[in-house]
Order: sequence, then C-alpha cells, then structure tokens
Amino acid sequence: MSDSPNTPDAPAEAAQRIRAKGEPRFPDGPKPDPAGSHFERRIRSFQPRRSRVTAGQADALTRLWPKWGLDIDGQRIVDFGELFGNDNPVVLEIGFGMGEATAQMAAADPATNILAVDVHTPGQGNLLGLADHHGLANIRVANGDAIILLREMLAPDSLDGLRVYFPDPWPKKRHHKRRLIQEEFLTLAATRLKPGATLHCATDWEPYAEQMLEVLGAHPDFENSQPDGDFAPRPDFRPLTRFEGQGLDKGHVVNDLLFRRVPHDDQR
Ligand SMILES: C[S@@+](CC[C@H](N)C(=O)[O-])C[C@H]1O[C@@H](n2cnc3c(N)ncnc32)[C@H](O)[C@@H]1O
Repeated sequence: MSDSPNTPDAPAEAAQRIRAKGEPRFPDGPKPDPAGSHFERRIRSFQPRRSRVTAGQADALTRLWPKWGLDIDGQRIVDFGELFGNDNPVVLEIGFGMGEATAQMAAADPATNILAVDVHTPGQGNLLGLADHHGLANIRVANGDAIILLREMLAPDSLDGLRVYFPDPWPKKRHHKRRLIQEEFLTLAATRLKPGATLHCATDWEPYAEQMLEVLGAHPDFENSQPDGDFAPRPDFRPLTRFEGQGLDKGHVVNDLLFRRVPHDDQR
C-alpha cells in the first residue's frame, strides 16, 4: 500500500486509521447520525452496527456523496427537482442493504427516480459505486433513519411509490415493536404518498408477512391491489434481493404485498 494520500488506496487507509473525536469518517461523505437521532427517545427499526467499509466503498463515498448523497439532518424539506435534476416520479426505497436490487430497478426504469435510504455505510458506498459504474443518474442515497426522512424532510403527497424489501424481521416477540411495518409508520408514510401511489413490501418471514397483511388491510389510507385481499404474486420488476436469496437458501417462503394509497377524503 502506498503512503501517498493521493493514491486509490488512500480512502481505505483513511477509513481504517483512528479518527479524532468528531472527525468525519469520509471527507465530504455521509455525516454520522446527522439528525442527532440519539436525542430522540424512540424505538428504532435498525440495530446500529459497525461494519467494515471496503476500499472501493470508501472511495465511492468520498467521491460521490457530495453529488448523490443526502444527509438526513431533519432540517429542511427536500426539493426533488433540485435533488434529481428533473421532474420524474420519485420512489422511496427504505432499507436497500447493499443496493444490488436497487441498482437493477433503476437501470430497468431510468424515467423513475429512486431515493434509497439506509443507515448502513458499506451499503451506501456499494450503491453509489454501482450507480457510478452503470451510469445510473436516477439514484440518490440517503444516510439515516427513514422515519426522520419521511417525517421531517419529505413534502406531503410527494412520493409516487414506497418500497420496503425484506425489512429486518425482528423475530423475537419482545422485539416486535421494532418492526417497521406498523400502523404508526403507515399513517406517516400515507401522508407522503400521492393518492394512487403504490406501497410494495416483501418479506421472507411469514409471521411478519401475516402482520403486514393484517395491519395494511385494516389501514384506512391503503387498499390492497389484490381483489381477494391476499398477498400479491411476485411482480416481474422486483429483482431477487440479497436478503431474499439468503432466506430462500433457508427454505423460507417469500410474500409480496402491493397496496395503493387511497385518494384523500375530498377526492373520493
Ligand atoms: C434485512 S435488510 C434488507 C436489505 C435489502 N432490502 C435486501 O433485501 O437485501 C434491512 C435493511 O433495512 C435497514 N433499515 C432498517 N430500519 C431502517 C430505517 N428506519 N431507516 C433506514 N434503514 C433502515 C437496515 O440497515 C438494513 O440494511
């Protein structure tokens, strides 16, 4: 490894050396917990984890965050026209993991913008790298808690769709309160979705799938796209995700749910 700070290895070195307190992990990259969510006493749907960032991911974070990254600081309403540089429809994906499926969906539908949010730094670097490598101009990557993004930074009726693929299943009963798909979350998400926008969830954890179907089926702001009120056939446009593959290897059954945001009361 070279000791010059200008070599391709430099970001990896920067990622691994011990940083001074408060020093950002990547120059111009995502800021740690920018919304200061530690100050908010709320049950979270994710477990903070310290994962290794590869040299390639660190390089992508350093180079591309200023162009395609969004820190969830809870301080302003995001202007999608400004963020994406066009007025195309915007779909929010919560919890993209390593982002392979996100990149595939962005490539398959370049006229749809994808705002992809996760707290997982290696995944953010991975997705930025994939977007760069494949020339995907319709992806933006947000760092932080999707709840704060939805609540503080997205305008009402601004989203054309919401995707939640293989959210953490939190299988233990005492952790069920951490599951993302709950009534309170759906009520918040509904306010940010345009009438008619699609909420697409998928999970390989059957008890969670049943919970999703129940809570979505009972929610007044959503209606099932399936006339029989059941799970949806897997749509062709959803690629196999990394967590889905792991679930299938374990023999899990995958369920998709496709719901629509119902029109507002005054539009019915
Ligand atoms: C089980 S993984 C699934 C990843 C990917 N969708 C897949 O199928 O491979 C769930 C992801 O959701 C993220 N996540 C959970 N709660 C979140 C939240 N409130 N805001 C942002 N990301 C969240 C986690 O960090 C994790 O990367």
